[in-house]
Amino acid sequence: MQLIYAPASPFARKVRVLAIENGLMDRLEPVETSVMPVALNERVNAANPLGKIPVLMLDDGQALYDSRVICEYLDSLHDGVRLFPTDAPRRWSTLRLAALADGLMDAAVLARYEKAMRPAERQWDEWLDGQLGKVRRALRALEDSAAPLQGPLDIAQIGVACALGYLDFRFAELYWRNEFPALTAFQERFSARDSMRQTEPA
Ligand code: BEZ
Repeated sequence: MQLIYAPASPFARKVRVLAIENGLMDRLEPVETSVMPVALNERVNAANPLGKIPVLMLDDGQALYDSRVICEYLDSLHDGVRLFPTDAPRRWSTLRLAALADGLMDAAVLARYEKAMRPAERQWDEWLDGQLGKVRRALRALEDSAAPLQGPLDIAQIGVACALGYLDFRFAELYWRNEFPALTAFQERFSARDSMRQTEPA
């Protein structure tokens, strides 16, 4: 299977962390690329009409996207403990937390595009503030429900760690650790894992 990814993408990092944790990396052929909202990437577009990464190309030629689908697919390929819990109510609380982490990544990536790629004279401060507001509210909600982050490894923890890692990578100036002690403790512990170290964006 080929994994089309960009090292800076927090969504792709989530897939790579999960694959390492599940012992599946030797079944993946990583194919590095770069995507930007205003630049065509024919290879990615051919695999995913939305032009987004990550994409997992299966051996039968089928393309899987988005990162949630890829993660759940990879999690079905091993015999170890599932990172997507199967039983209610834990399944739903975990998926909800994972969705919150994905939403945080979404808002942060959009804010990054606005800040770093749109010409300065066309930037829309209110829109940027709107995205950063989503980031802050997501951080608050994660801080207030940090208890599940102490439990056995699951997809929500991986998502939260990759979302926080992206803030450190692209938004160091937010100093999110000043306001969110439970998330700070979680990230200190989680980012020491081999899977996180191996996927740290340069
Ligand atoms: C980034 O450079 O921040 C980035 C790259 C690909 C996807 C998302 C974010």
